[in-house]
Amino acid sequence: MKLTILGGGGFRVPLVYGALLADHAEGRVTAVTLYDTDADRLDAIARVLADQAEGVPDAPAVLGTTELDEALRGADFIFSAIRVGGLEGRAADERVALDEDVLGQETVGAGGIAYGLRTVPVAVDLARRIARLAPHAWVINFTNPAGLVTEAMSRHLGDRVIGICDSPVGLGRRIARTLGVDPERASIDYVGLNHLGWVRGLHVDGRDELPRLLADPHLLGSFEEGKLFGTDWLQSLGAIPNEYLHYYYFNREAVRAYQEAEQTRGAYLRDQQEGFYARVKDPAAPAFPAWDRTRAEREATYMSENREVAGVGERDESDLESGGYEQVALALMRAVARNERTSLILNVRNRTTLSVFDADAVIEVPCLVDANGAHPVGVDPLPYHAVGLVAAVKAVERAVLDAAASGSRATAVQAFALHPLVDSVSVARRLVDGYTKVHPGLAYLNRP
Ligand code: G6P
Ligand code: MN
Repeated sequence: MKLTILGGGGFRVPLVYGALLADHAEGRVTAVTLYDTDADRLDAIARVLADQAEGVPDAPAVLGTTELDEALRGADFIFSAIRVGGLEGRAADERVALDEDVLGQETVGAGGIAYGLRTVPVAVDLARRIARLAPHAWVINFTNPAGLVTEAMSRHLGDRVIGICDSPVGLGRRIARTLGVDPERASIDYVGLNHLGWVRGLHVDGRDELPRLLADPHLLGSFEEGKLFGTDWLQSLGAIPNEYLHYYYFNREAVRAYQEAEQTRGAYLRDQQEGFYARVKDPAAPAFPAWDRTRAEREATYMSENREVAGVGERDESDLESGGYEQVALALMRAVARNERTSLILNVRNRTTLSVFDADAVIEVPCLVDANGAHPVGVDPLPYHAVGLVAAVKAVERAVLDAAASGSRATAVQAFALHPLVDSVSVARRLVDGYTKVHPGLAYLNRP
């Protein structure tokens, strides 16, 4: 099997490669092609992978290239993990929004819309090219905002593109551990959009264990989401929201904390990764230890302002080991390649799963995966408060897709103005002005 990684010079590629190294089964990935627009970053990551492969006799071969067509041809699987505009772009997405007193974050609110507007045209070009050069490949989209970008690509690739995120798995695992049940045996009733979903049940041997958690303030307050949202709010919701809902339920506090932070997350990661890529340029510098140290720092500081707002304290040891992101990708690839039936929470087209959406809307939902791809399982309808949020955010995503296709500024304004976390049309207009000023990648928004 040949795997191609778009954004192959990206910081998280060694996580994926580490998971591949542990797979020795029949039909595993034997060749990895890393494609990136930046040859220096490719070299740096290739050095980390070489360190990882040391002493592993059947390590997948690694090839780096800046030629897209060469990377795509013959690929069985394609991971799309690009970052249009780099971390500098992410920092600008955050800054412009925070200067307007609205949330500046990679995927949620104004920052996420700006990132989507920059990324969708690039993702669409890639999807078209994949459809032409590797029509049988399965595409796994990691690129954020993952739901929106997956939907953009699905218009050209149909169900051959599947979006992934590690946050629902992480949440499910934390709930299972808190309840003292084996995460592998638990089936999680989770649904929504990417970074906008709720766990409504956790079934083990046909029995829902979640009510036991919701009824016990001590248990409920003992894990990440319990501390983040507070036990009272979770009991009143009757569900456990994805951590990204903190930006909605505690928006004012989150915006203030982000404004007061010394650096935005994007700026912090930009500086951190600049340091890493510069360090491993020196051929004498050990690449893997430098990467691993940087990764650990990144994990430890994830959502630190939100946790500060809620007084959560340090992250749990078990959440720092990572393992979500690359394991979901590997499990998905295995299920498809070897027809090993498995159940995973993925971003796929709705079909008839949630009646509030049309068939082509990409949602995040438990799926049965096999050689024919990912099929959403039936779920209970969402309560109205959740329907309201997911419908509003899907309308925003559709406006982003329309603006990306038409280049219409008015449609871009609509995308910002319709978002529940942007409180005025005037603010939306200023955001479009501000973003087009700082992002060359938004120059296409030049029609009325
Ligand atoms: C979570 C999210 C991902 C995000 C990652 C890293 O796992 O689900 O979508 O890319 O965190 O976030 P960071 O702020 O470190 O880039
Ligand atoms: Mn995610």
